[in-house]
Amino acid sequence: MTTTRSTSPTALVRPDVRLHQSWAATVLDFRHPGAMHGSGEWHMPEVVATEAGCGDFVAAQLAAESADPAGTRVASTYYWIADGASGEVLGFFHLRHELNEWLLDQGGHIGYSVRPSRRREGHARRALAAGVRRAGALGIERVLVTCDAENAASRGTIRAAGGVLEDVRGTKERYWITVG
Ligand SMILES: CC(C)(COP(=O)(O)OP(=O)(O)OC[C@H]1O[C@@H](n2cnc3c(N)ncnc32)[C@H](O)[C@@H]1OP(=O)(O)O)[C@@H](O)C(=O)NCCC(=O)NCCS
Repeated sequence: MTTTRSTSPTALVRPDVRLHQSWAATVLDFRHPGAMHGSGEWHMPEVVATEAGCGDFVAAQLAAESADPAGTRVASTYYWIADGASGEVLGFFHLRHELNEWLLDQGGHIGYSVRPSRRREGHARRALAAGVRRAGALGIERVLVTCDAENAASRGTIRAAGGVLEDVRGTKERYWITVG
């Protein structure tokens, strides 16, 4: 399958309150029914789509990047998916630096989402390719990305990035991408 629209390039940028306007538009876009969010453990309905809310969101993401001593949360980096030409925020991206037991079984190294109004433009495909390069820079040689068996869009994104299916565990398809 090919993407229906191809427009601007895609960038992974660090969370930044200066991007609050397009961040807020993205948050509101995710509130449409069925616009599930797949790149973090925080809950979009609780996020306040204002500049102050963006500041809280950025702070929460940066604080959640450190591993916790119990090992339930590994070190990670949050990015925002942005339009590489305009800088507009389009979605969210989370790169886990290692796999604990649950991540190896279900969650994988990477989670991502693109706002509903900007899907099918290739942004997730390009963001995942960029995220795999960032993983390689961290010394990760093979990246695990998983999707629900019913999530055709995420499966297409993973396969477009070279993902090779290892197995299906419960509802999760588990794909490995070799860092080039
Ligand atoms: C999954 C998601 C990130 C894809 O974003 P996107 O920017 O629309 O994806 P892309 O345009 O880059 O498409 C990537 C590939 O998947 C395919 N694809 C995208 N949406 C699809 C759909 N609804 N059905 C089938 N294939 C689809 C594309 O054709 C493309 O393949 P190609 O490069 O061979 O043409 C987006 O649908 C989303 O945010 N979903 C909700 C959150 C989620 O499920 N995240 C993943 C869980 S971690």
